[in-house]
Amino acid sequence: MDIIEIDNVSKTFKVKDKTVEAVRNVSLHVAQGSIYGIIGFSGAGKSTLVRCINMLEKPTSGKITVNGAELTSLSEKELRKERKKIGMIFQHFDLMPSRTAADNIALALHDSGLGKAQIKEKVDKLLSYVELSDRASSYPSQLSGGQKQRVAIARALANDPQVLLCDEATSALDPRTTRSILDLLRKLNRELGITIVVITHEMNVIKRICDRVAVMENGEVVEEGDVFGVFASPVKPITKDFISTTSNLSEIRRLAEENDEITRIGSDEVLVMMKFTGAVTSEPLISYVSREYDIVCNILFADLEIISGLSLGGTVGIFRGESRNIDDALAYLTEHDVNVEVIKDGRTG
Ligand SMILES: Nc1ncnc2c1ncn2[C@@H]1O[C@H](COP(=O)(O)OP(=O)(O)O)[C@@H](O)[C@H]1O
Ligand SMILES: [Mg+2]
Repeated sequence: MDIIEIDNVSKTFKVKDKTVEAVRNVSLHVAQGSIYGIIGFSGAGKSTLVRCINMLEKPTSGKITVNGAELTSLSEKELRKERKKIGMIFQHFDLMPSRTAADNIALALHDSGLGKAQIKEKVDKLLSYVELSDRASSYPSQLSGGQKQRVAIARALANDPQVLLCDEATSALDPRTTRSILDLLRKLNRELGITIVVITHEMNVIKRICDRVAVMENGEVVEEGDVFGVFASPVKPITKDFISTTSNLSEIRRLAEENDEITRIGSDEVLVMMKFTGAVTSEPLISYVSREYDIVCNILFADLEIISGLSLGGTVGIFRGESRNIDDALAYLTEHDVNVEVIKDGRTG
């Protein structure tokens, strides 16, 4: 079942006599219980789109359905009720500086109908869930970035939402804290069954926790798919750009351009980048072609990783041997689903 349905949504802002088309005719469906990532550069329209999901922005056209309720057709009062089922966290946490961690969470419960004691009990439980029980009386200024985001997550969970929207929730955090917050998001996805929409400009965030990903550019979704598929065979240049930031394989191109020492090759050598996806793994194939075609393969570096349980990555190496044998070896690899790119060919100078 799709818990979030975005159908043909556009959002236009009018600023003075200019119009900005922040979101253009976007359609996206998010499966219940999944973690969905939306990636794009600054200004791509990600925040506007995610704010349309809980109607903090009203779409100029199109339809938003969350949890079976068509938000774009509800009255303000009905909308307030539906909105409670959608939590949200932000890059800069948005906590009240004059309130303690516990009070920041309690504020979200003020019109929940719960009594004082019940609110306290719930706040304690939430603080414990985000592992901050010992900081209940701390003010935001006394907390680290990661701790502030944990408080914000606890606050977002206070009304037992079915959906959590995260707008650049880790962008202000260092890499280690980012990992711990992403682990927490994954935990509440798995344990509480909360569907999560993650907005980010970092492909590593997508890689770490998302099931599916949409790539946004100029207000449009230009590519969409399950994370492994998109990583394994990106189509659009912008997607390739984002993916290259998570791997150091393509570094070889820069080194080759600069004629770096490690990329200098002889007249019987070829510098190649081989990319492997899924079931294909590098070692057996490389040792096979090396034996079969009588070539020497000197591996410069390799970068292999596991995404959604499948291996993905590649190897950069120098093949040396008879010119024909090198061609045959490269052809063999290509036939076996290896993406082979010749970075530098010593035979042609
Ligand atoms: N409230 C607003 N009024 C006018 N323009 C806006 C408003 N919000 C966003 N925009 C514009 O819409 C475009 C998309 O912005 P945004 O959704 O914030 O992108 P992102 O989150 O991907 O950085 C930008 O050109 C931005 O300036
Ligand atoms: Mg934004």
